Amino acid sequence: MAKILVTGGAGYIGSHTCVELLNAGHQVVVLDNLSNSSEESLNRVQALTGKTLDFIQGDIRRTEDLDQVFNTHQIDAVIHFAGLKAVGESQKIPLAYFDNNINGSIALIQAMQRAKVFNFIFSSSATVYGESNPSPYQEKMPLGMPNNNYGYTKLVIEQMLEKIAIADPQWSIALLRYFNPVGAHQSGRIGEDPQGIPNNLMPFVTQVAVGRRDKLSIFGCDYETQDGTCERDFIHVVDLAQAHLCALTNRLESKGCRAWNIGTGKPISVLEIKNTFEKVNQIAIPFEFAERRTGDLPSFYADSTRAQQELGWSAQYDLEDMLIDSWNWQKQNPKGYH
Ligand SMILES: NC(=O)c1ccc[n+]([C@@H]2O[C@H](COP(=O)([O-])OP(=O)(O)OC[C@H]3O[C@@H](n4cnc5c(N)ncnc54)[C@H](O)[C@@H]3O)[C@@H](O)[C@H]2O)c1
Repeated sequence: MAKILVTGGAGYIGSHTCVELLNAGHQVVVLDNLSNSSEESLNRVQALTGKTLDFIQGDIRRTEDLDQVFNTHQIDAVIHFAGLKAVGESQKIPLAYFDNNINGSIALIQAMQRAKVFNFIFSSSATVYGESNPSPYQEKMPLGMPNNNYGYTKLVIEQMLEKIAIADPQWSIALLRYFNPVGAHQSGRIGEDPQGIPNNLMPFVTQVAVGRRDKLSIFGCDYETQDGTCERDFIHVVDLAQAHLCALTNRLESKGCRAWNIGTGKPISVLEIKNTFEKVNQIAIPFEFAERRTGDLPSFYADSTRAQQELGWSAQYDLEDMLIDSWNWQKQNPKGYH
């Protein structure tokens, strides 16, 4: 069993991954500045698993915080979730994104190097495929320039990590390219709790369902897709968390830098999400069609064959599970963790 530093572990995907790590018998140290999360998520992770974890409130950009972690704990591997992730915000305040995501990752990697910890799992995104690759995306495709600053930070960090692994063969790095994580732990105790107006579809749907917002806006209804709305590869957050365990096992046994798509491989439209949510949860979602948003691609989804073959990972949950679990979390916690 290993001791894992989870940066951003109090956040949405991080908290679900902490549950899976603890359940698998690993020790967990979380470093999070709580800029987009609450310590309550970690209290609940511990209550759910019946195990304890170490929490350090700190920032990945601060050398003192990082050294404190690495000097106090004998870390075997780092799973790096910490960062800013709102696409629209990244267009307004690019420097904050470059600082948090790129500088933060560099500071973290330097601290790992000082502590001689070379196993690293990075939260990347399907956005690194850019705008011109056809779906399903395969890892061997040439990457493209993302059309927003958030995506650009993911591309830069991926490329840095590849070069670092070439320069020093001690490194073992996983680039996990997430598609669209939704859902929540089946208990309804942890889930996605965005601050302010949600950027992603699912919290928007559940906040309409719980009465926090009037209606759902669906951006664009005339795309060249099955029903005219955008299609994405939605993946249950517990499946995504499991993928980190599989990647951890793989990285503890191999060297170099390798990318894996983490998606179901099935495109699902925004309208299908709304309709299925209404059906499985027996609750109406008022909605309107709005103008297309600049930068939204009509459709993209994963080819996840490489993750199946090399990590032994595949998605276990279907769309209905995702929507039932999202709603279960939101209705038990109408105001999130607050
Ligand atoms: N949710 C998605 O749709 C999605 C898709 C692809 C990739 N990702 C990536 O996955 C990772 C986790 O995403 P999430 O949805 O759980 O987001 P989240 O905002 O819920 O979690 C990120 C966590 O990082 C913390 N954090 C931010 N900056 C920090 C810093 N400088 N120092 C320490 N902690 C910091 C936040 O407080 C938060 O707890 C992010 O890197 C994100 O870009 C997310």
